[in-house]
This record gives sequence, C-alpha cells and structure tokens, in this order.
Amino acid sequence: MRIKINNIPFESNEKMTVLEAAGFMGIKIPTLCYLKNLAPNTSCMVCMVKDKQNDRFVPSCSTLIYNGMDIDSESNEVMNVRKTALEFLLSEHVGDCSGPCESACRFNLNIPEVFNAIEQGQIQKAITLLRKDLGLPFLVNDFCSGYCENACRRKRVDKAVGIKHIIHEFLINNTIKDYGEKKNKEFSVLITATGIKAIALASFLDVNGFSVSLLGFENDIIQQDMDFLKRTEIIFLEKLPDINKMYEKYNALVTDTDKGINQIKTFVMENDHLSKTKKFVLQDVREAKELAQKVIQHFYNKQVYDYSYRFVSKTGYLDKDEINVYLDRQKSIPQNDRNQVYEEIQKCLKCNCDGFDKCRLRQYAAEYGANRKTYKAADRQKVNIVIDSLSQKIKTEKKQISHDHGKCIKCGICVQITRKNKENIGLSFFNRGIYTQIGVPFGKTLSQGLENSMDECLDCCPTGALKVE
Ligand code: SF4
Ligand code: SF4
Ligand code: FES
Repeated sequence: MRIKINNIPFESNEKMTVLEAAGFMGIKIPTLCYLKNLAPNTSCMVCMVKDKQNDRFVPSCSTLIYNGMDIDSESNEVMNVRKTALEFLLSEHVGDCSGPCESACRFNLNIPEVFNAIEQGQIQKAITLLRKDLGLPFLVNDFCSGYCENACRRKRVDKAVGIKHIIHEFLINNTIKDYGEKKNKEFSVLITATGIKAIALASFLDVNGFSVSLLGFENDIIQQDMDFLKRTEIIFLEKLPDINKMYEKYNALVTDTDKGINQIKTFVMENDHLSKTKKFVLQDVREAKELAQKVIQHFYNKQVYDYSYRFVSKTGYLDKDEINVYLDRQKSIPQNDRNQVYEEIQKCLKCNCDGFDKCRLRQYAAEYGANRKTYKAADRQKVNIVIDSLSQKIKTEKKQISHDHGKCIKCGICVQITRKNKENIGLSFFNRGIYTQIGVPFGKTLSQGLENSMDECLDCCPTGALKVE
C-alpha cells in the first residue's frame, strides 16, 4: 500500500493504522484514549486527521491505511478539529490542575508537592523544590505576604493551613545539613553582577544544574540563605578572573554592565531595586528567576520557569459537600506519630492535582490553545471522588487509592487493562451519554477491581484521575 501523510510518501505491505504509519514516519499525532497493544477505544477524538481522498476527518488510532490514501495531519483545519475535541473534554472536566495556594503564589511554588515530600521524609527533594521556585527560600518565606494562605481552601473548614510557618520550620531544621547532591555540570556561568538578584540567580542556576561562580557578596537580609548557599557547589570568588581567559572556563557571563566579552555568551542583569521594601526585594528575586529561564533556554532550549504557556483548569468555588469530599479523603489516611509541623501539613486537603506534569489533557490543551469555557455546561458536575483503602493483596507502601470522576475522561484504558490482566472483578463503564462513569461492578471496591492492575492503570491513565497516597 502506498500512502501519503502531509505529502510525504510511505509504503507498507502490512495492515496498520494511520497512527502507526505516522509513528514510522516520525510524525507526531496526539492521543489520549489510545494505548499500544490495546484495541482502540476511539473516544477522545484528539487524534483526528483528514483523509483528503474523501474530505473526511477520521480518528487516526483506529483508521486503517489503504492504497492511495492521502492524509493531512498538520493543517490549521486539522488543528482546529483537535482543539474542538479537547474543548469538549474540558467542558465536563471538574478539577484543579494546581491548588489555589499554588495559583496564588507569586513564585508558583507547588505547595502540596513540597508537603508530600516533607511528609515522606524526602528532605532533599523538598529543599530542591523550594530552591527551584523561590531561589532564596528563607528570604522569600520571610518577606512574602502569604497570598497562598489567603487562597487556601482549608479556611472553609476551620483555618488556612499555616503554609509559611511549615516552610519556615522545615528550612530552619533541615538546611543546616549538607546540600549533598553533586552532579556533573555541563555549563559554567560566571556572575559578576552583584546584589540580591545576582545571588538569587546563582541559586536558581545551581539548582538547575549549572556550575556557578559568583563574585562574593554579603548582605544581612539574606544571611540565612547565604549560610546555606555556601554549602552548595556555588563558587564564591574574591576577585574577578582574568578577562582574557574567561572563555576557557566559562560558557556564559552575567554582568550588570552592557559591555559583553568576546567569545562568551553574555547576559545583562539590571541592578537591584534601590528600595529594600518587601515588594521590591521579592521583585528582584522574580527578575532573577526570569533571567535564569533565559539562560536555561539558551543552553538547554527548555521552559522551566515560563508559566505563560501553562494551561490550568480551575473548578472555582466549591460548596460545602465538595469541601467535605476532600476533607474525607484527607482524614482517611492513617496518621503516624507527628510533630507540630506534620500535624499542620496534614490539615492540607491536597486539593491540587498530582497529575500536573503527566496529564496529557493539560499538555495538549496548552499546545492547542484550547479554551475550557468554549462549551461550558450551564451547571458543572459536583466534585466526586471515590476513595478506598488499599487491600494487603496490593503490595505498596501507599495507604489508599482514589478515583476522581471529574478528572476522568472515560477513555476506557483502565477498563481494558483490567480485562487484559484477567481481573476477577476489574473496572467497567456505567450509565450512558454525558453520565457515563468508570466504576467497579457488583458494588465492589477499587482495590478489589484493581488487584493486579493498579500500577499499570496509574501509569497509563492519561490524566490525574487515579491517585494513590
Ligand atoms: S488545602 Fe492544601 S492544597 Fe488546598 S489550598 Fe490549602 S494548602 Fe493548598
Ligand atoms: S481513570 Fe481510566 S477511564 Fe478515567 S482517564 Fe484514567 S485511564 Fe481513562
Ligand atoms: S480517538 Fe484516537 S486516541 Fe482517542
């Protein structure tokens, strides 16, 4: 069979789908309900392409190629069809991609993720998360106004989670230890600019894997951060290295003058704001983060800190019953011996989404510029999370599993996985049309339905609908 995709010829003697043919040709097509080696579910419609022979849009995951087929997978028309499919899925999506606390944080710190790391004793990870987003965590924690706590949903139950206090206590008790993590660093940056901004930049670049040298600088208001940074791999220089030899040692220079140096990539950093009020100090740190993104972009061509491209779904106001759903899930996790900080952390309802980074619905929504309000239903469905403690037959340290109906796109992948694994009970579809739901038949529990399939379903679910904790 001879076909063309985007006018590029392809030949095959084997029966295969358009998606498979595109895969052989290195052409990327988005998919949500497709999983290799399972029969196509054909429910999401984000894999649509146009068959130019008959001017029809077809799902590439289930459409077989035929001799003479001529496929368009990249025109604006095709992109718009996919965008519409995503907007339909989003119209019934109920869930927050990030918690209200993270959305309110001017540094986009994923607070529940930091809490999870602290609860699980992953000290290194918690410190890294704090440094990656705050740069100078002591300073930012001291100076910020606690917008996260203002936005915290726990306020609706009793009091906001004491986020600032938790982070402060954690930093005081843990950054004393050696930072420890040594990495092979590919690129070296020399920072000759001075001030809080320069130190924040050094911290952002160090934690993102750069080798950083910085001309020495001390300032009382960042003493705690400095004490910590001196135990990282940042090199504090006492004098400027020989300008003529700089290129031998460094890949980039960050300076506060506009005179660059030949043979070395130069970034110009504006001086700190003169005013040392909270507002301007925090702005200095944010500007350092923006510059860190430019340096990362230059050397690694990736977005770490540019949030403009992020797509975030928000549920908005939750009624009392919905808050109680989160409260019940949080209460049902057995608690170990806890000190005051852990007790405070356990007040967090974890009303964010653990699937933020892996969720393909969110990623495609960002990529295709989908608007979650285009087909907004008049009344949104209520938050509905089914929670079940994990039976001992499932070997894991985790205590419970939950299925969030609002985040589930009913793709059918988990249902097929339980069938493939010959589960006694498995999962199934219930109801029809917009009321279709995934559930466990015969009134059984999630852990009974997923006895041999839990990890695979967690891995393959394209959204954050399934969660273990
Ligand atoms: S309850 Fe937890 S996740 Fe929700 S807003 Fe408050 S701190 Fe953030
Ligand atoms: S829970 Fe199952 S049906 Fe729902 S999105 Fe995940 S894999 Fe698909
Ligand atoms: S319809 Fe093809 S991946 Fe969902």
